[in-house]
Amino acid sequence: MAALPALPKRFHGPSVWVLYALGFCPAISAFYLGATGQLPGNAVKEFEHFLGLWALRFLVATLTITPIRDLFGINWLRYRRALGLLAFYYVLMHFLAYMVLDQTLRIQPIIADIARRPFITIGMAALVMLLPLAATSNNWSIRRFGQRWNKLHRLVYVIAAAGALHFAMAVKVVGPEQMLYLSLVAVLLAWRAVRTRLLRWRRRQAVPARPAMEKAAG
Ligand code: HEM
Repeated sequence: MAALPALPKRFHGPSVWVLYALGFCPAISAFYLGATGQLPGNAVKEFEHFLGLWALRFLVATLTITPIRDLFGINWLRYRRALGLLAFYYVLMHFLAYMVLDQTLRIQPIIADIARRPFITIGMAALVMLLPLAATSNNWSIRRFGQRWNKLHRLVYVIAAAGALHFAMAVKVVGPEQMLYLSLVAVLLAWRAVRTRLLRWRRRQAVPARPAMEKAAG
């Protein structure tokens, strides 16, 4: 397979900032359309749904970084933190849209919703689990927590599953879009479950090729 042209090293840092800037464009454009009365139907619901959907997209994108490296040898690890943090900011904006615009900060109905409507309970649990991940998505925390950091950040699998489930439960009829996200998350989590064994198998397959190559070189 032809290799993708590699991005020169000096662009690695700036490209992450470009990703952050692009990542916020959907929220800014939806806010602008909402504020200028250009969102169709119930503008508040549209805005809230839009932010929730982008949160899920960024969660899925975060989980694809490892399989892309495993399967195609493309290392986009430098973008993983930005994608994860964008997912967090979108969940937070989705939650704020729900609290401020949808529920107009009426605390009792919000608490009742979180306690009694299972899809909102699951969404809230996902947001709560995202908090420690967002707070420790920095170099200092990685150095400070060592192996425990990796264990903590495995929570992202639970969060993605909760996000996809929340999406499916939020609608009356589960349609192709909900099925798509449920399947994507299922495949990405299944990859995690089998990847160590698969990569080990691939390495073992590659080993016998070496003596033959050495012979040819000699
Ligand atoms: C990982 C976390 C979350 C993700 C990925 C997420 C994503 C979504 C998505 C994709 C939708 C449906 C959009 C549509 O129908 O097009 C949705 C709906 C909804 N979400 Fe979330 N959400 C999350 C967390 C939360 C939280 C923390 C709350 C509030 C406590 C919340 C409240 C709602 C509500 C109320 C709706 C339905 C709005 C309605 O149609 O009445 N979500 N969410």
